[in-house]
Amino acid sequence: MADKLIIFDTTLRDGEQSPGASMTRDEKLRIARQLERLRVDVIEAGFAASSNGDFEAVKAIAGVVRESTVCSLARANDRDISRAAEALKPAARARIHTFIATSALHMEKKLRMTPEQVFEQAKLAVRFARNLCDDVEFSPEDGYRSDADFLCRVLEVAIREGATTINIPDTVGYAVPELYGGFIAMLRERVPNSGKAVWSVHCHNDLGMAVANSLAGVKIGGARQIECTINGLGERAGNCSLEEVVMAVRTRRDYFGLELGVDTTQIVPASRMVSQTTGFVVQPNKAVVGANAFAHASGIHQDGVLKARDTYEIMRAEDVGWTANRIVLGKLSGRNAFKQRLQELGIAMESEADINAAFARFKDLADRKSDIFDEDILALVNDESLTQQREHYRLLNLRQHSETGERPHATVSFAIGDTEHVAESDGNGPVDAILKAIESKVCSGAELLLYSVNAITSGSTESQGEVTVRLQLGGRVVNGVGADPDIVVASAKAYISALNKLHHSPDRVAAQG
Ligand code: KIV
Ligand code: ZN
Repeated sequence: MADKLIIFDTTLRDGEQSPGASMTRDEKLRIARQLERLRVDVIEAGFAASSNGDFEAVKAIAGVVRESTVCSLARANDRDISRAAEALKPAARARIHTFIATSALHMEKKLRMTPEQVFEQAKLAVRFARNLCDDVEFSPEDGYRSDADFLCRVLEVAIREGATTINIPDTVGYAVPELYGGFIAMLRERVPNSGKAVWSVHCHNDLGMAVANSLAGVKIGGARQIECTINGLGERAGNCSLEEVVMAVRTRRDYFGLELGVDTTQIVPASRMVSQTTGFVVQPNKAVVGANAFAHASGIHQDGVLKARDTYEIMRAEDVGWTANRIVLGKLSGRNAFKQRLQELGIAMESEADINAAFARFKDLADRKSDIFDEDILALVNDESLTQQREHYRLLNLRQHSETGERPHATVSFAIGDTEHVAESDGNGPVDAILKAIESKVCSGAELLLYSVNAITSGSTESQGEVTVRLQLGGRVVNGVGADPDIVVASAKAYISALNKLHHSPDRVAAQG
């Protein structure tokens, strides 16, 4: 029987560290459910000690996920580790992931600690974590750039104190495949008790080699866990992308000879959900999940595929969850059909009142758009969670006028708390006029970092537009997403959603700080 390769998904922790990708508790819960459907082995649900919001999200995920192990990150100190253990209490299977930097650069400049202090802290942290949880992962941050002799000592003591997984991060994406694979092999060889732990790889994509490095860590180094994120989401150039490593190991089973527990047909739904939730659009030519990943444009390729698929296809689109845009619901669909589709998509609504509100929005959309696809439902539910009564800013109505040769003009009414406001403005374009009108009353002072529009389903001008607005204020970066068949309305929703996130988002401790 082939060895099992453990898939550790960190979309909700390392992925979420990407500026603007921060998610609400409900959004994280929805993604965690999808990750469980994807059957990843471990879900890193967050960094419980970093904020109350993260603590609540880890706890909520630990309360609903039953099949995958739920993990929380914790710095190597008692407070962080206790918070992680507390948040993980409801989990069926829990893991504490504790880390401390071990490279000379990080120890001296960032931690201002001597190697001996780091050694002691790592030892005590793993000991403390192991008293609270049977499943403990230890990571030497910036491990790949650490001195090998020192690293071997730290890893040996971590395993002696009970770490069950040893993860070697290439924190800054500096590695190249052969060297990274060789580094893991060298550590496994030199650490005397290495056989008592599962070895794991964690690669960042700064030089575009995160997937290649992770696979080398497995093939050359003998690692049996890969840490990765959906769509390669993550800080800077992102993390190792789950869909790419999983499909590489599966498609080249002849070479890797490893078993996976993942249900690959859930990959595309997971990719769409993460992209729609964070507003991080997937590039069309992205491997496996890009819109063109299975599209054959040239006549020669099309001819070949029609004659025999495997002339140009090494994977089947349906094996990773691509389906033709399916009309799932329409104007005549009833509440039960809608509720069932929500369940099939893994969207759990907390109350009947929430389902009723979502259904009312669905009916409203179905009146304006004849065919409703899964993507429309996901967008609608995303939107729903952002426009509930509890939100501070709420869009009430919008009027906008554009004419060739005239400056567009917008009038927007919206609520701030319990007070209704009406604001108007001109602008260079209709969207500019609307955002300026809202800002004239809100006075957030936030800087607009990104504005983007995408069609939710391709092939028709009837598609809903999905707008992402990224705002920055006082060091915080948030993403607002809004969807509507009218892209001007979608823009107003996205802007208001971003303002709400700024209003709610607490300051957090950086995982690598
Ligand atoms: O990249 C990194 O070093 C990390 C650790 C916290 C595991 O994400
Ligand atoms: Zn990382």
